[in-house]
Amino acid sequence: MRKAYIAGNWKMNMCPSEAKAYAQDLLKAVKESGADVKMMVAPPFVSIPAVLDVLKDSPIIVAAQNMADHDSGAYTGEVSPLFLLDLGVKTVILGHSERRQYYGETSASINKKILLALKHGMEVIYCVGETLEQRESGKLEEVLTEQLQNGLKDVKAEDMDKIVIAYEPVWAIGTGKTATPEDADDAHLFIRKTIESLYSKDIAEKLIIQYGGSVKANNVKALMAKENIDGALVGGASLKVNDFLPILTYNK
Ligand code: 13P
Repeated sequence: MRKAYIAGNWKMNMCPSEAKAYAQDLLKAVKESGADVKMMVAPPFVSIPAVLDVLKDSPIIVAAQNMADHDSGAYTGEVSPLFLLDLGVKTVILGHSERRQYYGETSASINKKILLALKHGMEVIYCVGETLEQRESGKLEEVLTEQLQNGLKDVKAEDMDKIVIAYEPVWAIGTGKTATPEDADDAHLFIRKTIESLYSKDIAEKLIIQYGGSVKANNVKALMAKENIDGALVGGASLKVNDFLPILTYNK
């Protein structure tokens, strides 16, 4: 049985003071609700310490949205995984489609980061997903295969329990268009089968695959009811406690 894993990716929202107030409200609401899923929030780098002040010893994991592909050195503007670990951050989102789309990241460059994060024992949420053009031209499986094969290149079987895959169709992100639960489940099944062929049935069965793309309180239940959907990576609806809490408690 795979435990549901619901995560909030704040993207470039919430400065440190806003983030701290939000974390306090979220923690209170989560405690009162008895939420029973694995929970995570990923604030912008500069807001992480303020959020950790509140959530450090709580059931809500604090993650980063990205990290550097080196430990230290002359890489202006980058944030080392060692700095994250020093703060107490052990989870990182890598390869988000916005990183691929706007900052030139590729499966190969993301792979470098994934291997480095795993070397340091971090949990990685690796994002994959197709654009509308790719879907409409029948390239969904080809795109996912490329992203999984190259993104996970040289990742050892024994490290696969540290990998979570987030399937985020680019056309569903921030657009209000959600993949139907059936379409999302089909893509998740394809991802699971690909992992089975790259690793083993056992690893594929244990793999947590989150869906991301306009997840809201009113569609999370139908998505989570699907066999291969094990969690959600939530953008916009994770920015307000009133929107996020019903997603975290979808199974209550
Ligand atoms: P939205 O939930 O705003 O569509 O964003 C999804 C996402 O990109 C999460 O990483």
